[in-house]
Amino acid sequence: MTELRIAQPNDKQRKMLEAATKHVGFGGARGGGKSWAVRTKAKLLALRYPGIKLLIVRRTYPELINNHVQILRAELLGVAQYNDKDKLLRFPNGSTIHFMYCARDGDLDRLQGVEYDVIFLDEATQLSEYQMKTITACLRGVNSFPKRIYYTCNPGGQGHGYIKRIFIDRRYEAGEDAADYTFIQSLVTDNKALMASQPDYIKQLEALPEKLRRAWLEGDWDIFEGQFFEEFRVAPDPARCAQAGIDVEQARIHGFWTHVIPAFDPPQEWKLYRSFDWGYSKPFSCAWWAVDFDGRIYRILELYGCTRTPNEGVKWTPDEVFRRIRQTEETHPWLRGRRIEGVADPAIWDQSGGESIAETAERYRVYFSPGDHKRIPGWMQCHYRLQFDENGVPMMYVFDTCKAFLRTVPQLIYDPLRPEDLDTSLEDHVADEWRYLCMARPIAPKAEQNEPQAGHPWGNPLAD
Ligand SMILES: Nc1ncnc2c1ncn2[C@@H]1O[C@H](COP(=O)(O)OP(=O)(O)OP(=O)(O)O)[C@@H](O)[C@H]1O
Ligand SMILES: [Mg+2]
Repeated sequence: MTELRIAQPNDKQRKMLEAATKHVGFGGARGGGKSWAVRTKAKLLALRYPGIKLLIVRRTYPELINNHVQILRAELLGVAQYNDKDKLLRFPNGSTIHFMYCARDGDLDRLQGVEYDVIFLDEATQLSEYQMKTITACLRGVNSFPKRIYYTCNPGGQGHGYIKRIFIDRRYEAGEDAADYTFIQSLVTDNKALMASQPDYIKQLEALPEKLRRAWLEGDWDIFEGQFFEEFRVAPDPARCAQAGIDVEQARIHGFWTHVIPAFDPPQEWKLYRSFDWGYSKPFSCAWWAVDFDGRIYRILELYGCTRTPNEGVKWTPDEVFRRIRQTEETHPWLRGRRIEGVADPAIWDQSGGESIAETAERYRVYFSPGDHKRIPGWMQCHYRLQFDENGVPMMYVFDTCKAFLRTVPQLIYDPLRPEDLDTSLEDHVADEWRYLCMARPIAPKAEQNEPQAGHPWGNPLAD
């Protein structure tokens, strides 16, 4: 008979293994023994309860294979059978552990019609709130086994805000019950096994830049707080409107204390721009902007799509992209017959793969000048554009029809490795072409807001 030995958990891992609420958060720092706890809990549950279905999720396929599949397969050799095609470990008692990665929303399609009794989201903060909610919606089933979701996490990553809300700040929304949530913090210093086997690991964490050290060694969640463009407003703030004595609906229509306004016909006299970011394996983004006589920019139209992977939307070749841009400019009443100045990611002039993207564009009479791609000054320009003056009027607006901007820009967060920049693993193509446009028409920050706000993550990079 095969004997399965499981090492002793440390005190924090024991708490995680014993936790009995529907949602269990674990970790909050690097090296706390999180992935070990996930594998151990999954094994114990599968062995103890016949016929239950477990799911272990990581963001990428290599992480999933290296952190879980290979280790569990080896540990359970002779105990459970692994089916590589289905990414499934099957136990003799009928229980299963399924492995899944979720690098993009399209990966969620594989979840259709499946149900699980227990779900483990390892490195949950690497997933978006939408992805976490879509995956955990599969937690259901007719058996009487209690349903449970485990989230292991480090501060940083696209799910940071959501995980922080439910486990650290414990701010619950309608339909969420505080009693369903347990969080057990585990730091590297709690992981006695790692401290003994790799004493250098903690030295590596101690040597990190301060923000990152505080986040990953000490488990501080306030470092990459919130969104990258936290000042972006999709609707006027009622308190601000009340203070200014404006009705909220009137404020929305006229663009006070908001960046998003109902679309209108831009006057023929306003200058037009086109900004463009090419996605080699990711979506491309193209937008048209109008500029009023005060230099204020209005994002009036956009074309956003995917050039490679079919499950992320439309699959267009470069020719198709520029044919559509040309067609839009020839037919749309706001653009037809107008002079349009183009600015684009300088990488589109790269000729290493044969004809450059810029050359393809020219064949469709779509012309660009190379944008200035300095990132930090570029983001500062975007921030300056969003500042409201004393009357609540910003230097840029987005028409409420520009769905790609409204969907992707508010989701952007700080890059955990370079907290002064945004996390480029997210959908940042709209933000990138917006940045090129802002750099093509740079403005000065509002005088009274010249000083960086206290505690602003990047201090004042322009002062260097
Ligand atoms: N109770 C334990 N007994 C023996 N080894 C353990 C135990 N807990 C963790 N380890 C080992 O410590 C190391 C780090 O643990 P683990 O990978 O689970 O940490 P983690 O919190 O997931 O780290 P990261 O933040 O880097 O993902 C691994 O080699 C793991 O096998
Ligand atoms: Mg881990």
